[in-house]
Amino acid sequence: MGELDGKVALVTGGARGQGAAEAAFFVREGARVVITDVLDEAGERTAGELGCEYLHLDVSSEQEWESVVAAVIARHGRLDVLMNNAGIFRPAQLLNTSTEQWNQTVAINQTGVFLGMRIAGKAMIAAGNGGSIINTSSIAGLEGGFGAAAYVATKWAVTGMTKTVAKEFGKHGIRVNSIHPGAIVTDMIESMVSGKEDKIASRQPIKRLGRPEDIAEMALFLASERSSYCTGQAFTVDGGVHG
Ligand SMILES: NC(=O)c1ccc[n+]([C@@H]2O[C@H](COP(=O)([O-])OP(=O)(O)OC[C@H]3O[C@@H](n4cnc5c(N)ncnc54)[C@H](O)[C@@H]3O)[C@@H](O)[C@H]2O)c1
Repeated sequence: MGELDGKVALVTGGARGQGAAEAAFFVREGARVVITDVLDEAGERTAGELGCEYLHLDVSSEQEWESVVAAVIARHGRLDVLMNNAGIFRPAQLLNTSTEQWNQTVAINQTGVFLGMRIAGKAMIAAGNGGSIINTSSIAGLEGGFGAAAYVATKWAVTGMTKTVAKEFGKHGIRVNSIHPGAIVTDMIESMVSGKEDKIASRQPIKRLGRPEDIAEMALFLASERSSYCTGQAFTVDGGVHG
């Protein structure tokens, strides 16, 4: 028996990286999983490998959120787990952050999570089965981060929205929590850490960089009934760096 038997999960940014690992864990535990992304080819390929569905969803588009959530409900009749994972990282110090860079980062990392919680949350409430919303913040959503003002701003926004929506959705049996990854080796940071893995790891309490599966373990815990008394909380998975 799987921990997510009978559940339906939607994972944004699921074509690769942490989203793909989370989707794999959810499938393994018996959920019907829909992964979404803007990378359609990679998304279709990942869905084929995992045995789940792929749908196109740019998380910054309200219209696309409406149609994807409607498609999930039409097909499965319910939505139990929303994994808001999609995000971008365009580092720059404040004085070099263009308004375009700021607006794009906010649109995807912050507005994307807002739209997901509002549109999928409404469908979850209507379905009446409760559920779990998991938002991907970062350790950058708990402290400052040199050279990443836009990114840090959006990840703090995710931390705050999570705590607020948890208070509003509790009465519907919907829990809302955030995950705060440290350095996780995916396409997002590969070029920044490549060749420096050992040096970076040596400064951490746990002497290795993070893997997408480290985050997927936490996502599965938060998606499942094992975390049934946790809501509005920030869960850090970073090898002990923050603290
Ligand atoms: N890798 C890290 O070290 C790290 C650390 C802390 C937080 N995070 C966060 O983890 C999440 C997953 O990142 P990752 O490490 O797997 O990186 P990744 O770049 O491999 O994956 C991000 C995914 O989001 C998708 N995406 C980008 N823009 C999108 C949009 N507009 N709509 C839908 N999907 C979009 C990408 O196509 C990609 O598949 C992100 O929110 C990121 O900010 C990553």
